[in-house]
Amino acid sequence: MNQITRADCESLDWQDPLAHFRAEFSIPEGMIYLDGNSLGIKPKAALARAREVVEQEWGTDLIMSWNKAGWWDLPLTLGDKIARLIGADAGEVVVTDSTGINLYKAISTALALVPGRRVIVMEGSNFPTDNYMVQGLVEQLGGGYEIRFAEEDELEAAIDGDVAVVCLTQVQYKSGRVLNMSAITAQTQAAGAISVWDLCHSAGALEVDLNACRVDFAIGCTYKYLNGGPGSPAFIFAAKRHQGAALQPLTGWWGHADPFAFERDYRPASNIRQMLSGTQPILSLAVAEVGIDVFLRADMAEIRKKSQALTGLFIDLVEQRCGGHNFHLVSPRDAQRRGSQVSFDHEQGYAIVQALIGRGVIGDFRAPQSMRFGFTPLYVGYTDVWDAVQHLVEIMAGQEWRREEFNHRAAVT
Ligand SMILES: Cc1ncc(COP(=O)(O)O)c(C=O)c1O
Repeated sequence: MNQITRADCESLDWQDPLAHFRAEFSIPEGMIYLDGNSLGIKPKAALARAREVVEQEWGTDLIMSWNKAGWWDLPLTLGDKIARLIGADAGEVVVTDSTGINLYKAISTALALVPGRRVIVMEGSNFPTDNYMVQGLVEQLGGGYEIRFAEEDELEAAIDGDVAVVCLTQVQYKSGRVLNMSAITAQTQAAGAISVWDLCHSAGALEVDLNACRVDFAIGCTYKYLNGGPGSPAFIFAAKRHQGAALQPLTGWWGHADPFAFERDYRPASNIRQMLSGTQPILSLAVAEVGIDVFLRADMAEIRKKSQALTGLFIDLVEQRCGGHNFHLVSPRDAQRRGSQVSFDHEQGYAIVQALIGRGVIGDFRAPQSMRFGFTPLYVGYTDVWDAVQHLVEIMAGQEWRREEFNHRAAVT
C-alpha cells in the first residue's frame, strides 16, 4: 500500500461535500475532537437558541409558552425529526427521558405483548446500563423472567420459541461492530419474539431503516452523534402497529389519553404519546433540536461514506506509522461492519489516551485496554485524522505516555 501523506488528506478535505458543515460547530482552537461518539460538539446556534428559550420563552412568555412556543409538543416535534434519520414514520418516535428509562419502558411494553414468554436475549458485552436496567426489571417482575446472555456468534442459537424479547445494540460501544439488524429482527419475529434495538451509536452515524427492518421498538440518545448537548433527552420508537396495544408501565399524565381532563384513573394514549411519562426538560429539548436540525440538512449516505473513509484512513495510518508499538485493532476491518469509531487495544491505552488529550487530541478509554476514537463526519476532516496519528507517532517515539500525570485514573475515562 502507498504511504498516505498529509497532502493527500488535504486534497480529500478539499473534495469533501460535507466540509462546509464544520463551520457550524464550535470546535475549540487547536483541538482535534475524536469523541463525538461520547459527547458531540456544540453547534454554534445552540447558544442563541438557549438564550431565546431562557429570556423570551421562559423569561417573558412563561406559562403561555406551553402553547405559544410549542413546548407541549416538543417531544413529538423532535421525534418526527429523528424519525427521518432512522427510517421511522412521523408519529412513531418521541424524544424524552434518558436512554435507560426508555429501554425500561420499551422492554416492559414488549413483554406485555408476548404474555407467557419470560426470556430476554441480550449481549453481555453491551454497554452495561442496558443490562443493568433489564436486570432491575427482571427483579421487579419476579415470576421467572430471565436474561439469556448471548454474544454475536451465539445469537442464532439463543433466539428460540421461549424468547419474549431480543434486545441488542446495533453498534457495539467498545469495538464499533455493527450487527445485522434486518436478519436478526427477522429471526426474532420468526421465533414469535419482539425486537428492541439500542441505536445510541447508530443514530446520526449510519443509515438506519427501522421500518424496512420491521423493528418493533428502538431507543437511543441524542448527545453523541446528534450533538444534542450533555445529558440531552433520549428517543424511543414504537412501531405504529404496537401503539396502544400494551401498557407502558410508567403511567404518568403525559401518556394519558386526555391529560387535561385530569381524570382520576389512567387511560393510556393510543398513539406515540403513550411512551411519555411526565413534564419534560424543555431547555434541553430545545437545544437538542439545534443539533438534530443540522443533520436534517445533511445527506446520511454522504455521512456514512465519509465516516467509513475516515475510520479506514485512521486504521491505515496507525498501522502504517505506529506498526512496532503493539496496537491491536478491535474494530472490524470491513467498513460495512464498522460504525463511526475505531478502537485499538494497547497495554498502556489509558496513559496513551491521556497523552493524546494533553496534545489536544481528544479520544477516550474503555477498560480494560481499549483506546476509542469517534469520527463525526460533520466536523472531523481527513487532515485531522493525519494530524491525530502524527501526535500518536510522536507520543510513542518519545514514550511521552510514561509521564506521571498521564498515569492517574480520573473518575471519567
Ligand atoms: C449502547 C448504550 N446505551 C446506553 C447508553 C447510556 O444510557 P443513558 O443515556 O441512560 O446514560 C450508552 C452510553 O454511552 C450506550 O453506549
